[in-house]
Amino acid sequence: MRIGIIGAGNMGGAIARGIAQTACHTVVVSSPNHRGELDALKSQYPAISVSTDNTDAVRGADIIIIAVKPWLIDQVMDELKPVINFDCQMLASVVAGVDLDHLASYAGNESSPAVFRIIPNIAIAYGQSMTFIAAKNATESQLNVFSGIFGSMGKVQIVEERLMGAGTALASCGIAYAMRYIRAAMEGGIELGFTADRSLEIVLQTISGAVAMLVNSGEHPEAAIDRVTTAGGITIRGLNAMERSGFTTAVIEGLKASK
Ligand SMILES: NC(=O)c1ccc[n+]([C@@H]2O[C@H](COP(=O)([O-])OP(=O)(O)OC[C@H]3O[C@@H](n4cnc5c(N)ncnc54)[C@H](OP(=O)(O)O)[C@@H]3O)[C@@H](O)[C@H]2O)c1
Repeated sequence: MRIGIIGAGNMGGAIARGIAQTACHTVVVSSPNHRGELDALKSQYPAISVSTDNTDAVRGADIIIIAVKPWLIDQVMDELKPVINFDCQMLASVVAGVDLDHLASYAGNESSPAVFRIIPNIAIAYGQSMTFIAAKNATESQLNVFSGIFGSMGKVQIVEERLMGAGTALASCGIAYAMRYIRAAMEGGIELGFTADRSLEIVLQTISGAVAMLVNSGEHPEAAIDRVTTAGGITIRGLNAMERSGFTTAVIEGLKASK
């Protein structure tokens, strides 16, 4: 597959790097004013083609991924519409808040192009994204192509478009929420007597261990909790103290507020 990426910032650059690492696809990245980032991409992954002309990324591409700021997408698409063949090129966007109907409208009223909304999270740069994909007018094999590409850079869920906001709250904002838990646990560790760097190592390894337990056992988190809480022991005392301070409610309220 030939994949054209419009925009070489955080997201466009991370997707390009992720795809380049799989070595399965040809990637062309364009950004008119971002020569520095294009040069950095090229020197890190010589197989990536770069251009300051967006039409270079579109010509011959099977998939075009738009990765510019939301207020620029209409201007970028005005430039690209005349060179996109919506009958055989698939248009995808990571742009927040731009829905599938809006993407399809770029093809004009008489056409029903296959369009895709993709929400990766920032961990895509480390091959650990939680990516949501919603599509309009797409065949199953087209969706499989996207799942394959983004599945090589983390986990993918194909969802109805109405769930994209919820997915963003859980997985994109969720990165910040996980960081806040890590910081809180680290600060607790420091109060209990560990230095900051040791505390961070302990918290990260503990979270990795918890994730490994759930992934490997398929257990429900509450069942795993039961396995580490002795009757009358210190873990249940800690959990109950956290809940008295509103832990579960705070997490759910935060997720609902960010949808
Ligand atoms: N960052 C995230 O975690 C995240 C997560 C999910 C979705 N998104 C979405 O991804 C999109 C990009 O976000 P980002 O964080 O990657 O932003 P960013 O770092 O600012 O990247 C945007 C890129 O687009 C380039 N650009 C500007 N005008 C252009 C044009 N006319 N043609 C082609 N490229 C152009 C910019 O170059 P200059 O800097 O030279 O202007 C920059 O390289 C946003 O719409 C956002 O909603 C981001």
